[in-house]
Amino acid sequence: MDKLLIANWKMQLTHNEACTWLETELSSVRETLAYTEHELVICPSFTVLPYATFLYEGLPWGAQDCGLEPRGAYTGDVSALSLGELGISYTLVGHSERRQHYGETNEQVRKKTSIVLNQGIHPVVCIGETSEQRSRRSHVLQEQLEPLLDLYTRPDDLLIIAYEPVWAIGSGTVPSPDDLAETLETIEKFTSGLDYLILYGGSVNENHAKLLSPLVDGFLIGSASLDSEVLKKIILSC
Ligand code: PGA
Repeated sequence: MDKLLIANWKMQLTHNEACTWLETELSSVRETLAYTEHELVICPSFTVLPYATFLYEGLPWGAQDCGLEPRGAYTGDVSALSLGELGISYTLVGHSERRQHYGETNEQVRKKTSIVLNQGIHPVVCIGETSEQRSRRSHVLQEQLEPLLDLYTRPDDLLIIAYEPVWAIGSGTVPSPDDLAETLETIEKFTSGLDYLILYGGSVNENHAKLLSPLVDGFLIGSASLDSEVLKKIILSC
């Protein structure tokens, strides 16, 4: 694998729209992907995953979240056990929109990471500071990352960190390469010598991907991943 590209579709498409996208766009996106060594993982809504894993078996699929417990009286949650049964390869945990809108805490992110690892699914741990937290970014990132590092104990446990500054998400702005390099150095200090992949997320488009690609192992792509032509440009520019 060269770069790991994760498409986070959020709740932008309805079930039917997402299925139509896969039917009409996926094959040409995969043709473009075949010119590269990148891995592309699409994270659609939960409802789409059974369809996607059945029809496009063998491709890596991702979820956007999972429940806090493997099973039980948790109305509305989707268990990591179910994701495992569907053959999901990755799931985001701790996305800033979960933290912001649903008050998800670092402790809960740790719990989800643990459950996901137990299913043999790769958690993509999302960390990042808000604009108010920018001056104490290092401390915020440390608090988000350090509590879950001891969960990575098995040889197959792959630590994947998605650094997504909250101020960059959906804003059209990204950190400068120097700024990002400095943050990545800070993150490196908190990883206790573990091997890891580092992704960048927040307003990724083809220009930003080209600019930041030398610094990271991949990207978490939000709105730009919904436009297959832009997605193809991103694939070719990193
Ligand atoms: P964006 O979203 O690319 O639309 O900024 C990224 C994300 O929230 O994961």
